[in-house]
Amino acid sequence: MRAIEISSGVKWVGTLDPQLRVFDVVMRAEHGTTYNSYLVVGKEKTALIETNKGKFSSLFIENLSRVVDPAKIDYIVMNHMEPDHSGALPELLTVAPNAKLVMTKPGKSLVENIINRPLPEAILVSDGDIIDLGGKTLEFMIEPFLHWPDTMFTYLKEDEILFPCDFLGAHYCDDRLFDDEVGNYDYAFKYYFQAIMRPFKEHVRRAVARVEGLKVKVICPSHGPIIRSGVKKALDHYKSWAAPEEPEGKRLLLVLYVSAYGNTTKMADAVAEGARSQGVDTEIFDLTGTDDSMLLDEVEKASGIAVGSCTINGDALPHAWNFLSSLLTVKVKGKTAGAFGSYGWSGEGPVMLTERLKGLKFKVPEAPVRIRLVPTPEDLENCRAFGAKLAEAIKS
Ligand SMILES: Cc1cc2nc3c(=O)[nH]c(=O)nc-3n(C[C@H](O)[C@H](O)[C@H](O)COP(=O)(O)O)c2cc1C
Ligand SMILES: [Fe+2]
Ligand SMILES: [Fe+2]
Repeated sequence: MRAIEISSGVKWVGTLDPQLRVFDVVMRAEHGTTYNSYLVVGKEKTALIETNKGKFSSLFIENLSRVVDPAKIDYIVMNHMEPDHSGALPELLTVAPNAKLVMTKPGKSLVENIINRPLPEAILVSDGDIIDLGGKTLEFMIEPFLHWPDTMFTYLKEDEILFPCDFLGAHYCDDRLFDDEVGNYDYAFKYYFQAIMRPFKEHVRRAVARVEGLKVKVICPSHGPIIRSGVKKALDHYKSWAAPEEPEGKRLLLVLYVSAYGNTTKMADAVAEGARSQGVDTEIFDLTGTDDSMLLDEVEKASGIAVGSCTINGDALPHAWNFLSSLLTVKVKGKTAGAFGSYGWSGEGPVMLTERLKGLKFKVPEAPVRIRLVPTPEDLENCRAFGAKLAEAIKS
């Protein structure tokens, strides 16, 4: 693929990966992706912003060499170190021996453990630092947790181009490259936000406000289309997706359960009743009939969750585990949680779920409630008391 000019002296020199279908194990990529790298040529110096995925090293260097002799690259700006950004670095350095690496301090410690070999000395930048290439000034904006601790954005002042790394990116491969030429890719743009940026909403809000304060004509992310027509639209989307949840009129406990014979169902109803008796709202979900991805917003707005599963063959049921695994992109730290379930003889399910809830950093104030087989009225009273205690923890 040929290099593509974005503005005078600024070219896309990335690679296309149309065949990719799963990214980072956890993300679908039905449209493939791109690994975007950009060459910025000033009057005196030349900078490369972002490298490429290791698998694409040779292709990347071939593309790059068509527009510049890599030995003439003065700076390699590494906005982020994940292997899709840093993998091609070792091979690149063999042909670009004169380049100085530019990165954040956390980036340095990460890349050393990814590349596992000595790297040339790096320029470790702080927020607001600049590098003057001669009529092209790169300013660095430290933006940690968008989405790794190392992340920074690079802003090319004269051209009003922002290189925000994975922020505002998408897994969407189209060789027409620009947002106004690739057609509608809203789905991929939103999915990328949900999968990558969602856990970092407050950082997203901070960064959007910062970018809105800059003059930005073009956004050049690390994956997917270059945004030149839809700059405002992209920022508005991020702003609305990262908006803080409206505080509930009443606090909310979600009760999510899975039950083979209905015993754990009865317990779930009683847990919810107990919580409501303390003035906390409840929503009850049978996990056998719910799509986990549809529950993420519910969990985000809830103050707590109670997860129920009967014990089958010494374990909680997969529905409960799958639900807890799906919380990977939701910030749950500080929310209250507890587990319950009916059992026959050993009752490991709710115990294991309780440990998992603690591991996910929920606040877990109560031991699990386990009821042997069919709950009696007294057992259900215990479930109500359990729900009431979770509600109290939520309110405290
Ligand atoms: C296939 C199967 C395996 C089970 N394995 C266990 C087990 O390992 N330990 C246990 O305590 N109960 C076990 N049980 C018993 C259930 O946990 C018990 O019947 C419980 O009351 C079911 O609750 P539910 O009505 O909410 O499904 C098993 C039940 C079935 C059907
Ligand atoms: Fe990344
Ligand atoms: Fe990336």
